[in-house]
Amino acid sequence: MSIKFRKILVTCALPYANGPIHIGHMLEHIQADIWVRYQRMKGHEVWFISADDAHGTAIMLRSKNLNISEKKLIKNIHKDHKIDFINFNISYDNYHTTHSVENLFLLRKIFASISKKQLFNKKIISQFYDNVKKIFLPDRLIKGTCPICYAKNQYGDACEACSSTYEPTDLINSTSVISGTSPILRDTEHLYFNLPVFSNMLNQWIHSGVLEKSVIKKAEEWLKLGLKKWCISRDKPYFGFKIPNFINKYFYVWMDAPIGYISTFKNLCVKNKNLNFNEFWNKNSKCELYHFIGKDIMYFHTLFWPSILEAVDFRKPSGIFVHGHVTINGLKLSKSRNIFITAKNWLKYFDVDSLRYYYASKLTNNINDIEINLNDFMYKINSDIVNKLVNLASRSSSFINKYFDGYLSDQLHDNNLYNYFINSRKKIENFFESRKFSLIIQKCVKLLDIANQYINENKPWKIKQNIKKNSDLHLISTMGINLFRIIMIFLTPIIPNLSKKTELFLISHLRWDNIQKPLLSQKIKNFPKLYERISSDKILNISKLFN
Ligand code: MSP
Ligand code: ZN
Repeated sequence: MSIKFRKILVTCALPYANGPIHIGHMLEHIQADIWVRYQRMKGHEVWFISADDAHGTAIMLRSKNLNISEKKLIKNIHKDHKIDFINFNISYDNYHTTHSVENLFLLRKIFASISKKQLFNKKIISQFYDNVKKIFLPDRLIKGTCPICYAKNQYGDACEACSSTYEPTDLINSTSVISGTSPILRDTEHLYFNLPVFSNMLNQWIHSGVLEKSVIKKAEEWLKLGLKKWCISRDKPYFGFKIPNFINKYFYVWMDAPIGYISTFKNLCVKNKNLNFNEFWNKNSKCELYHFIGKDIMYFHTLFWPSILEAVDFRKPSGIFVHGHVTINGLKLSKSRNIFITAKNWLKYFDVDSLRYYYASKLTNNINDIEINLNDFMYKINSDIVNKLVNLASRSSSFINKYFDGYLSDQLHDNNLYNYFINSRKKIENFFESRKFSLIIQKCVKLLDIANQYINENKPWKIKQNIKKNSDLHLISTMGINLFRIIMIFLTPIIPNLSKKTELFLISHLRWDNIQKPLLSQKIKNFPKLYERISSDKILNISKLFN
């Protein structure tokens, strides 16, 4: 059987460089990293990239607040984000920034190409302006009463109470979030991208197998409502790239952010001379391209982004993988309401594999929200990882080390059971490929129950009379180690730290392609401390952070 060798480029949405990475962001990076590690284990060529999204009003205002330059702010944050991803074992090949020469170069090239095709036009509009802070206000910096349901304190673009969308000028009693004063209307000229001409292309594209059902439904709704021309310019003061020949105007951050996917790859090509940029981005590329994103930015990735790529004759994504939002104990993550755990804070209480395992146990290929319940988290980790997984290794290896000098027997005790475990492989592979990680965890826990039951039934601790090589005691313990090893191979993309420790313990690499061959006759190490139980004290303490 020949296996197709794939070349795959995977991206995560580019986190804004205006604050720390929190465990909500981390869901996406963990989800993508699990998928990437699996594909690499299968022998495919995978390039995994992301970057900081370093432009926009929020970053400009934050740097003003901190009294440092924007450049200084995004540099500090970039360093910080990179450390967080390394600490969570996110195996990026490149983590770049949109404030880069590559991004400016590509943005200009793309802008020139779209201009040449006359897909931009200018228009004068009336927009809210903060006369105290001397700045045009983006929708999110305007609040007021919803014109539909009269809920107070709603943003300028949409009401969180009744989900209506509207223009900021429709709000009742609108105020500027930054000065607290009523904004005035002011005329200003802007640049629009002719999105509606891509409606037919988009209609075809969203049905071409690149999106999951729930995402297609959303995109269909938007297309049905009709696409509008998309404003891609912003007035000064702004932190971003300037638009050529358009005085005091900047590119809207959402214009240069997705181009960051391309420019980050370009930057990787500079660092890795074997990589061929065009092979991945040409219109007829045979390589695969996947974007992992959250459901809040679907519009940009399913409508704007493919249209831009079509306009400039670049390839389009092979898939957009959309996830829901993380909530904690039933609450939406929110910095202002202090319901918020940064990646750094998480590591003060728990290890990395625990979050990766817990997220995996909840993740599937739909856009449902993912709830972190801290008690459930403690229960799952202690029950699955400590009581079932690590315990299987510990009880099996104790005899091997005590009576057999650390050497495994030279045959298996139960070939049928071994084969039963191996035969789960196809299912597990399908679950990885389709991102149904929760089903992988379910399957592995079932296998663990079977393995532990096998040990319970065979009661190796009672077979004291015969401790010769290849005695039942030797065979049963070796069998336990082998079942543990198969499950650890399956779980390697999910819990890489535990996997590394297991490789040292078993003195053997956990690889997908040698799963068939049992570990026999060889030495293993003394049982090391593989994992630490989570205490309820820690759950209490971390809960205090946001109560
Ligand atoms: N900068 C844009 C993305 C540009 S991509 C060309 C952005 N940044 S973000 O920092 O706000 O979000 C980055 C990613 O994290 C998005 O995919 C977003 O959905 C995800 N998440 C942010 N908060 C989240 C949760 N609470 N839960 C899950 N994912 C969340 O959007
Ligand atoms: Zn409303």
